[in-house]
Amino acid sequence: MVLPAPFRDLAVWVTLRTMKPTRRIRTSILFTLLLLGCSDTPEPPPFTAVADSKQLMLSVIEPAAEVYWDAVGVIMDMEGTVHIRPETVEDWEAVENAAFVLAESGNLMLLEERAQGQGHWVAMSRAMIDVGRRAVEAAQARDPDAVFEVGGDVYQVCTGCHAVYATETLRPNYEASPDLP
Ligand code: HEC
Repeated sequence: MVLPAPFRDLAVWVTLRTMKPTRRIRTSILFTLLLLGCSDTPEPPPFTAVADSKQLMLSVIEPAAEVYWDAVGVIMDMEGTVHIRPETVEDWEAVENAAFVLAESGNLMLLEERAQGQGHWVAMSRAMIDVGRRAVEAAQARDPDAVFEVGGDVYQVCTGCHAVYATETLRPNYEASPDLP
């Protein structure tokens, strides 16, 4: 059907007037549904801890820390003094990788199954991330002195958390000699 011009304009106007609110209503219903969906308790993130905290320490964190700590140092014996430092590209990459493991392990400790409450645990896990990041930077700068220095700070973070949550780890000789201070 061909409408004369004025009627055609009217028809378009009517269509627009009726379409727009409908679309608006449909949109707002959609938003309401979305909001309702969001106001439900959110699904927990799909993380699954495979190791318990102790195993994480033994299999992930401790080996990485050892690589980092052993990378730079001085050995003195009868033969003389030997300065240890990463030499090859591969040596430095190993130090850098260990630093990344340390930094990311802070995130692993924040997993719901591992986190022991909020407060101090969260602070120490965050400290692990921060010191780990500095450890990465020192390794990437290929700076042995910085690796040595940050290594000391890493140790402080380990013992800072153990002082509260793993007192027997802070003093590994505790079981052997419980009478020692
Ligand atoms: C956020 C807290 C936290 C930080 C940071 C932390 N640890 Fe631990 N660590 C623990 C807890 C908790 C345990 C005790 C686990 C258990 O026995 O259930 C533990 C235990 C250990 C153990 C003993 C495991 C055993 O045989 O019983 C070692 C080794 C260890 N940690 C190494 C480290 C090192 C190395 C670092 C630093 C690079 C570190 N940890 C940083 C919380 C932490």
